[in-house]
Amino acid sequence: MSDDKARRDFLLNLGAGAGVLAIAAQAAASLRSLVPNVSYDAPTTVKLGLPTDFPDGLKFLPDQRLFVFREGKTFHAISAVCTHLGCTVRAEAMSQPEQTTVGGAPMRLTHRFACPCHGSKYTGDGVNVSGPAPKPLSWYELSVAPDDGQLVVDLAHEVAHDFRLTLA
Ligand code: FES
Repeated sequence: MSDDKARRDFLLNLGAGAGVLAIAAQAAASLRSLVPNVSYDAPTTVKLGLPTDFPDGLKFLPDQRLFVFREGKTFHAISAVCTHLGCTVRAEAMSQPEQTTVGGAPMRLTHRFACPCHGSKYTGDGVNVSGPAPKPLSWYELSVAPDDGQLVVDLAHEVAHDFRLTLA
């Protein structure tokens, strides 16, 4: 075999090897693209802070778009996401707090909600009363983290309006 032929064969083999590698890399990339980058099992529970971090009345948590209400040792959480098209509703303090019954249990309502986008209005327990909002604001389950005592919200777990978390 001449030196020229040997060189030609070597270069041909090198080219073929590079081609196979390129195809394998492309195939691997294609397969990887079928695997989503997001985890559908992402936790939906979020620690919100110690109960003592929450004043009596209302605290708005912008990151979670959530209102947490405290009345003594009792807490509940209402979503700030308007049920029309998802704008963040505003809490408006009532001139006179209203003692009422929500979900069969007594509750002192101190605020009502209004959406700045298209004017939907909600009562203090999140019931839609005017505007295009088709349904009430969501209530989410609250609990206490066993490891450090922080309040925890589960944003995947809507609860009825009779939900209350009462601390011992
Ligand atoms: Fe709230 Fe339209 S998004 S009224």
